[in-house]
Amino acid sequence: MTNAQSPGPLRIGLIVGSTRPGRRGAAIARWAMEVTERHEAVRAGDAVCTLVDLAEQKLPLLDEPVPALFGDYRHPHTRRWAAVVDACDAFVFVTPDYNRSIPAALKNGIDYLYAEWTDKVAGVLSYGVQGGNRAADHLRAILTEVRTVVVPTGVALSIFTDFDSTGADPGDPTAGRFAPGDGREAELSAMLAEVVTWSRALRSVDPARVAAGAAELVG
Ligand SMILES: Cc1cc2nc3c(=O)[nH]c(=O)nc-3n(C[C@H](O)[C@H](O)[C@H](O)COP(=O)(O)O)c2cc1C
Repeated sequence: MTNAQSPGPLRIGLIVGSTRPGRRGAAIARWAMEVTERHEAVRAGDAVCTLVDLAEQKLPLLDEPVPALFGDYRHPHTRRWAAVVDACDAFVFVTPDYNRSIPAALKNGIDYLYAEWTDKVAGVLSYGVQGGNRAADHLRAILTEVRTVVVPTGVALSIFTDFDSTGADPGDPTAGRFAPGDGREAELSAMLAEVVTWSRALRSVDPARVAAGAAELVG
């Protein structure tokens, strides 16, 4: 129940960081949503999870004249995106490795905002040839700059061992079915447990935000 005494469930946004047609990120994000929905905090009604697909935001390359730090958003697309991020207490970022970093679309989406990321919690689920670890490292550093607290446990998936390319056309770089290896769900659950614990603690930093979010859920 959501009332003046109860801050309501934690709102986790699962951000899909790749936007290209045929992206593996879509299947990985679907799996991550399923695992999150099985997580005890979600089953108990203490947390809810929403898929946030950057591709649907259709953000242009940053076109705000004032840096996000000042919160003076001029464009409707920025305000829409700010409302989506503001409605979350915590995030799970699903990011591939693109040339040793995160996709430009994801960096752009982060750069658009500031306060909406601040004093919130994130977990990083990366993927790539070597687990997307370099993208994950960059993302952690970027999020630190906007004052998002990143939990220590991450998930790093391989596009080889966590995808099944049996019978696929070897000439098709997008072929292969997502087939997460043993233990991947446990890794993601461990990360989610940290995200939930830390975001509960960080809620005390901004009671006004929590109250507004609870009112939104009631309304
Ligand atoms: C532009 C581009 C650059 C890439 N660079 C890397 C890289 O540096 N390291 C890596 O492990 N994988 C790299 N890859 C492989 C991607 O991790 C892999 O294709 C993954 O599926 C991309 O995510 P997506 O399918 O959701 O777009 C790259 C892929 C693309 C499209």
